Amino acid sequence: MKALQYNDKVVAQFAVMALVWGIVGMAVGVLLAAQLAWPGLNFDVPWLTFSRLRPLHTNAVIFAFGGCVLFATSYYIVQRTCKAPLAFGPLASFTFWGWQLVILLAAITLPLGITQSKEYAELEWPIDLLIALVWVSYGVVFFGTIVRRKINHIFVANWFFAAFIITVAVLHIVNNLAIPVSLTKSYIVYAGTVDAMLQWWYGHNAVGFFLTAGFLGMMYYFVPKQAQRPIYSYRLSIVHFWALISIYMWAGPHHLHYTAMPDWVQSLGMVFSLMLLAPSWGGMINGIMTLSGAWEKLRSDPILKFMIVSLSFYGMSTFEGPMMAIKTVNALSHYTDWTIGHVHSGALGWVAFISIGCLYALLPKVLNKPKLYSLQLVDLHFWVSTLGIVLYITSMWIAGVTQGLMWRAVHDDGTLVYSFVESLKATYPYYVIRFGGGLLFLVGMLIMAYNLLMTVFSDEKTDLAVASKIS
Ligand code: HEM
Ligand code: HEM
Repeated sequence: MKALQYNDKVVAQFAVMALVWGIVGMAVGVLLAAQLAWPGLNFDVPWLTFSRLRPLHTNAVIFAFGGCVLFATSYYIVQRTCKAPLAFGPLASFTFWGWQLVILLAAITLPLGITQSKEYAELEWPIDLLIALVWVSYGVVFFGTIVRRKINHIFVANWFFAAFIITVAVLHIVNNLAIPVSLTKSYIVYAGTVDAMLQWWYGHNAVGFFLTAGFLGMMYYFVPKQAQRPIYSYRLSIVHFWALISIYMWAGPHHLHYTAMPDWVQSLGMVFSLMLLAPSWGGMINGIMTLSGAWEKLRSDPILKFMIVSLSFYGMSTFEGPMMAIKTVNALSHYTDWTIGHVHSGALGWVAFISIGCLYALLPKVLNKPKLYSLQLVDLHFWVSTLGIVLYITSMWIAGVTQGLMWRAVHDDGTLVYSFVESLKATYPYYVIRFGGGLLFLVGMLIMAYNLLMTVFSDEKTDLAVASKIS
């Protein structure tokens, strides 16, 4: 039988750039963390100020790093689970170059202060149009491959990727509708409370679909592959899928508690956030229990360790999120570093860890190498970055609760017990600890880059017949 030729060039391109953008985006994160502890580090240069670098960090880690991982893994998985090469090869290649252009334009415009001022949707209208074009092409390639599949069944990972691709297109287009007044300036068509509500419908589903649904697709393919076990419950995966995508859409108002939004909308957001715990944990349990009967693999396989620990962080942040969505809890946590701790337990613990695990699993295969240069270095990466996350999130939790309690402390006559500066002073040690944690996480990424460079430059090559069997 003729061996199937998958289009792994575009997968390899996206996977390598994911690593590059991951390092760049996290290095900017480390600089931001340093600036919060030592503000002089902006050197009085406008484009190095915290306010301009912060959106550069979020765009780089979410859309450049996360985006490239999602493109790479979805292209890799859809071909293998459909037993068909990618449809429309040149269009797939366009998605790669188009996405890199978007990233480059973001890296130029954001430090220059060119922004729509909508969080996670800062990029101005010409770049938004390019994103829409690339995204529609992505959909055509992905769904085209599904249509050309050689097997009837559509594997559950593809359901998650499909939901992610469609939803992100809708979110992006609706939230960015704007009237341009020049090449670098536009005005969003919505105003006031409606604008806020749409923005957080977008913002929350960016978390739910960009930072979660696609990554769950990766989990459903790579965890069973790496563990060499079938997924714990296929039925649970289907229930998980439908429950997750139908509940996520309604939870956005938890970002707008105690604002001008109608009270009933805030309560609706809170209730849907609490309900979201169930499908989130269903997914986590399904992933972790896949190892049932084979737990000893965790001792010998550091790649699996990344994947399973990522699921634990997923469980933790999706427990914490619903708790923070309860209005009385949010009254304490909102505006504080507790939110930053929650964000990074999801972003580093879940998103980055599952990405790292999948990239380690996929890169040697698409680079035509029989194995990674060193599994010991993967293990070292695991421990260095785990320590980094723990330092990051625990320091932010303590800082956040301290800030919340100090800000709400009042004397009997209603005057404040603490000034803002006093709360800032109390936070300072935790900012230094977070900087250390972030730095450790970045060092882990550099260890990964070294390991992959050594893998690429090793003389060993996989013979193609074996490659198609193991992939
Ligand atoms: C059941 C799941 C989750 C729920 C119900 C939830 C809920 C929340 C709540 C209540 C906030 C604070 C809003 C505020 O006070 O402004 C928040 C912030 C945030 N969460 Fe989650 N969360 C969940 C999972 C996650 C995960 C897994 C991630 C990351 C991958 C994540 C990323 C974020 C981000 C980025 C923010 C900050 C948004 C901003 O203000 O810029 N969340 N979440
Ligand atoms: C070395 C790793 C990282 C470091 C040191 C770091 C550091 C930071 C810092 C200092 C901030 C600003 C916090 C503030 O405004 O008080 C921030 C914000 C943020 N980071 Fe990171 N970060 C890292 C990795 C990541 C990754 C991998 C992701 C996503 C996949 C991510 C997503 C975000 C988001 C969404 C925000 C905005 C949070 C909000 O508005 O509530 N970060 N990060």
